[in-house]
Amino acid sequence: MTKRKILITGGAGFIGSHVVRLFVNKYPDYTVVNLDKLTYAGNLENLRDIEKKPNYHFEKGDILDVEFLFEVFKKYDIDGVIHLAAESHVDRSLHNPTEFAETNILGTLNLLRAAQASWTNGYEGKVFYHISTDEVYGSADHGGFFTETTPIDPRSPYSASKASSDHFVSAFHNSFKLPTRISRCSNNYGPFHFPEKLIPLMINNILNNKPLPVYGKGENIRDWLFVEDHARAIDSIFHFGKTGEVYNIGGNNEWRNIDLVNFLCHTMDKKLGREEGTSAKLITYVKDRLGHDLRYAIDASKLTAETGWRPQVTFEEGLEKTVDWYLANEGWLKNVTSGDYLKYYTKMYQA
Ligand code: NAD
Ligand code: DAU
Repeated sequence: MTKRKILITGGAGFIGSHVVRLFVNKYPDYTVVNLDKLTYAGNLENLRDIEKKPNYHFEKGDILDVEFLFEVFKKYDIDGVIHLAAESHVDRSLHNPTEFAETNILGTLNLLRAAQASWTNGYEGKVFYHISTDEVYGSADHGGFFTETTPIDPRSPYSASKASSDHFVSAFHNSFKLPTRISRCSNNYGPFHFPEKLIPLMINNILNNKPLPVYGKGENIRDWLFVEDHARAIDSIFHFGKTGEVYNIGGNNEWRNIDLVNFLCHTMDKKLGREEGTSAKLITYVKDRLGHDLRYAIDASKLTAETGWRPQVTFEEGLEKTVDWYLANEGWLKNVTSGDYLKYYTKMYQA
């Protein structure tokens, strides 16, 4: 097997840490370099179990610093990139769209330029893999599923920045033949998820007997996938995907937000030994998210047909694992929520 030297950006974040862990453990002969700026969302605690492995390396730095990227490519002789670093939270993008444009668009462009400039001996064996999102397709309001040919129709500053980065990746493939791949995944959940996103925020608030803010009427629909299933899909696409192609990844697991929150409340009551219905009493309907996409729904059949990948973890199993992890790691939760971690946008969603 080729001894690959892979640069994973955003490896200290939620999904990135699961991808780094999978690659470090599964491919001991690979060099795995995690490049991360360690923003509020990046946390080296997420990687404690693998940080001493000889094939793991960490580089603290910013994808906006193109000179630094050139140095990292040279230092490790990088031949594969899995690019996850991004500003990832829709609510924050409504508050500070410029930061999203800088990191998600310019950061991706820098990485493309660094790969192009570093791979001067040709692109044989090289892979530039960009991790995108189903949100670039807009909202599947009228039924049906997003396929890879669904027109791009981003509707939040976050999804506009991700769609723009996708276009740059495609442009580098078309113009310079850079060996790119793009995947677009639905909502992930699981351990190490930062508690500004729906599921971990609700878990944290239930633990602290705080209101559970459901936006609007709670009727918006998301397709949930356990994060380790996403990491396995990324592994499949990195090794077996085709150059220049886009792959959808999803859980075939649609939930209305209010149904999901009620199910989570039921699970938490059981785990905490509380009387059934205790947590659900905390549900509070608040002002809706601006431009809130109604429904995301992914058709991942192309990926399954080409690589055999399919989700392995049911939602019931995944949610139970997730709740168990948060209950066993209250220290992690306390650390990441200390200070004013929601200061940017809590005022936007008062009841
Ligand atoms: P996250 O916010 O948990 O992690 C992002 C990571 O990127 C953090 O470690 C952060 O420190 C790092 N980072 C941010 N700006 C950086 C910069 N300028 N330079 C270097 N590092 C920087 O995000 P996540 O939820 O793990 O998402 C990872 C990727 O997957 C993103 O590209 C996101 O768009 C995409 N995605 C996420 C989901 C989801 O449900 N969370 C679904 C589909 C796609
Ligand atoms: O679909 C993939 C996307 O999923 C990723 O690209 C994003 O990075 C990721 O953050 C996620 O985006 P969402 O906006 O769908 O996730 P979030 O957890 O923020 O919200 C999920 C749903 O729950 C959404 O309809 C808004 C709603 N919500 C969210 C929060 C934080 C609430 O009702 N209350 C809340 O407090």
